[in-house]
Amino acid sequence: MIELIKDPREWQRRCVSARLSGRCIALVPTMGALHEGHLSLLREARRRADEGRERGLALATIFVNPTQFGPSEDLSRYPRDLDGDLARCAVAGIDWVLAPERPEAVYAREHETWIEVERSSQGLCGARRPGHFRGVATVVAKLFNLSQPHLAFFGEKDWQQLQVIRAMVRDLDFAIEVVGLPIVRDPDGLALSSRNAYLSADERRRALALPAALRAVRDLARDGQREREPLLALVRRTLEEGGLVVDYVELVDAALRPAARAERGTRLLGAVFAGATRLIDNVAIP
Ligand code: PAJ
Repeated sequence: MIELIKDPREWQRRCVSARLSGRCIALVPTMGALHEGHLSLLREARRRADEGRERGLALATIFVNPTQFGPSEDLSRYPRDLDGDLARCAVAGIDWVLAPERPEAVYAREHETWIEVERSSQGLCGARRPGHFRGVATVVAKLFNLSQPHLAFFGEKDWQQLQVIRAMVRDLDFAIEVVGLPIVRDPDGLALSSRNAYLSADERRRALALPAALRAVRDLARDGQREREPLLALVRRTLEEGGLVVDYVELVDAALRPAARAERGTRLLGAVFAGATRLIDNVAIP
């Protein structure tokens, strides 16, 4: 039976004692409004938690973290559906869910400690959303300390976030295996996102230009057109012609540095606005 825990202190007590008793702990941090992308992480956490001799603990957290939202972003209207999320977690085999009711339960009134992952947070979404990755890294470090996981699961959908968390785990010696999992898409190609709920029918139709443009350029690269600038220009043009406003398009190497050529190991990333909604997506270059 799934258990909902609202108090981070109680959650930490339970996790510490589970860890001391030797159970494997697998953690999936989320902001809720769970969709199939989240579910793929939850199922994999369940599976990996049970790989050892005894049944492990598969944990999910649901917390819309205010410190990763900018002042003019969508914190107050971010979709919330705790009952639906609990039902989805139960189906995925999650044991315990931490869902603090208020930010004050997570952050001390005097909170003053922040984690800056300096290089990986620069550029891309970090440049467009000042302070975003500082909020993400700080809350993820807190969730790691609260949950004591052996394994933590993140989606490649948020490629830069995944690299920021890997860098933090490396630099601060968290004894945690970070597992990155592939992007889950709707059948028409749109990457699943809680923010897709904001899209009107027309915006959703236009949003398809993002995965389409990334795929088209990935295929061109695979066929031998590997020069950075013409490829990025083509993505930008395709997105604009599709009725989207380009926030950024970038080709990066494994360390998130701009890449001169679309070679194996590089990644093509895009962020766009469909109406007022900001969408991100990325593809690996084969
Ligand atoms: P959230 O946007 O809820 O995403 C939780 C996790 O689900 C992230 O690791 C994200 O990359 C993954 N995810 C989202 N959409 C996905 C998709 N279509 N396919 C695969 N994985 C997908 O990311 C956050 O929350 C927050 O920043 C958090 C890490 C919880 C810190 O607050």
